[in-house]
Amino acid sequence: MQEEVSGDVRGVSLIIFGATGDLSRRKLLPALFDLYLRGYLPKHFRVIGVARRPLPESEFRAFVCDALVAEFKDPPESDVSAYLEHFFYTSGEFDAPATYETLTRFVEELDGTRGPCPNRLIYLAVPPRSYDVMFDRLAESKLIASGGDRWARILVEKPFGSDLVTAQALDRKLGSLFKEEQIFRIDHYLAKASVQNILAFRFSNALFEETWSGKHIERVHIKLYEEGGVEHRGSFYDGIGALRDVGQNHVLQMLSMVAMENPKSFAGESLCAARAAVFEKLRRADDRDALFGQYEGYLDVADVREQSTTETYFKLTAYVDNERWRGVPFILEGGKSLHKNLGEIEIWYKAPHEGVCHSIETDACQNRVTIGINPAQYVSVRLWGRKPGLHFELEPHDLRFELPAMGSVRVPDAYAKVLYDGIAGDRTLFMTTRELQASWQFISPILETWRDKQPIRYSRGADPMTFAK
Ligand code: BG6
Repeated sequence: MQEEVSGDVRGVSLIIFGATGDLSRRKLLPALFDLYLRGYLPKHFRVIGVARRPLPESEFRAFVCDALVAEFKDPPESDVSAYLEHFFYTSGEFDAPATYETLTRFVEELDGTRGPCPNRLIYLAVPPRSYDVMFDRLAESKLIASGGDRWARILVEKPFGSDLVTAQALDRKLGSLFKEEQIFRIDHYLAKASVQNILAFRFSNALFEETWSGKHIERVHIKLYEEGGVEHRGSFYDGIGALRDVGQNHVLQMLSMVAMENPKSFAGESLCAARAAVFEKLRRADDRDALFGQYEGYLDVADVREQSTTETYFKLTAYVDNERWRGVPFILEGGKSLHKNLGEIEIWYKAPHEGVCHSIETDACQNRVTIGINPAQYVSVRLWGRKPGLHFELEPHDLRFELPAMGSVRVPDAYAKVLYDGIAGDRTLFMTTRELQASWQFISPILETWRDKQPIRYSRGADPMTFAK
C-alpha cells in the first residue's frame, strides 16, 4: 500500500540522466527501492533512465534488478517485479537537442498510455563537466516546464563548479534559466542520519550545548578516510581531487553541523542560513599547516593524466572566526586508499586546569565526544573515573549509543532522504547559493596554493598519522 509523500503530490516522473552509471547503480536505484518498500513513494511514479548507450528496456530493467540484488541480497521477488514495472529507458548524447526532444515525447507518451505522472524530478547523475550544456538543453526543452499544480525540479550532484569563479558562473546560469525553488544542489552528507543526529545531540542535551564553545573545547578533528582508491573513476576524479570531491562539501558540511549556532527551527531557511553563517566565518590557518598527498599507483589509474599532481588526500586546519569558536582549530582531513574506512568527528575538550586530575595525569582527563558517521553511526562520550584499587588512579569510560545499522532496522540511506525530500519539495538539506559561495571562498585559495606544488606520495593503505609534515 503506497502512501502519498504529501497530500498534494500527484504522479511523479523521475528522470535519471546517467541511469546506468555508478551512482545510479550503487545509490539511487536501491534508495528508491527502499522508499518503495516503505510506502514512501507517490502512488503513481515512473522512472525514466537516460544514458548514452542504446539499450532495450528489458536490459535496463535487468540492470536495475542487479543493482537491487547487490544491495539487498535477497529482495522479495514479487516486490522486485512490481517495482521494475515502473522503469523505462531511452538513450542519447547529453549535449544533443535531439535527446531532449525524444525524451520529452517519450515521457508524454508514457503519460498518455500508462497514466499521467506530470510532476518531474530530473536527476543529473552525470560528470559535472556536462552540467553547463545540460542546463541549456533542459531549459530549451518542455521537460522542465512547471506551472498550475505541476512542478519540475532538477537535482544536481556535487561538486558544483571547480572553484569560486566557475561555481558562481554556473549558479548564475542556473538562476537565469530556472527558478531557485526548482534547483536542488545535493550534498548527500547533509542527508545522512548520523550527520543530522549531530543537531539532535547538540541541541537536545543541555549537558553539552552549554559547554560547546572554545571556552571548553580545545580542538575538533573531522576525518573522512576511505580504504578504496579511485578505481574506475579516473576521468571524473583527476580533474577534481580530494578537496573538491569531499572537502568543499561533505567535510565542510560536517563542520557546519558541529559549529553552527542554534537554528531554533529545522524548517524553512533557518537551517540553511545557520550552515552558511559558519562558512562565512571560515578562515584557514597558515599554509604550512596544510598537507596534500597522492597515493602510489594513482598515476596508473585509467584516464588519469600523465604526471598528474591531483591530490587524493588532504589535511588542513580551519578556524571559525566568531565568538563561540575563536582560536579553536578544526582539523579537516580526507582521502582515498588509506588504512581504513572512517568518517568521524572528534570533539576534544580541554583538560581541567587544576585539581586532583591535573596533579595525577597531566595529559589525560580530556573529555571527548566522538561522532561516528561511517561505517558505524554512533555518538560516544569519554568520561574519566577512579580506577578500582588502593591508589588514586584514573581510567577512561566511553558511553556510546549507536544508530541502527543498515541491514537490521534499516536506517534509510542518505540517497533515500535526498530523493524523498526532492519529491516532497523540501530544500532544507540541499545547498543554497550562499553556502556554495562561502564554501568555495574558503576552498579556492587553498587549491591555488597547491597548484604548482608536488603532493607527498603515500603508499596504498597508509595511516595518515604517519605522514610527514
Ligand atoms: C562522494 C564522492 O560524494 O562521496 C566519493 O564523490 C566518496 O569519492 C563518497 O567515496 C563518500 O560517500 P559515503 O556516503 O560512501 O561516505
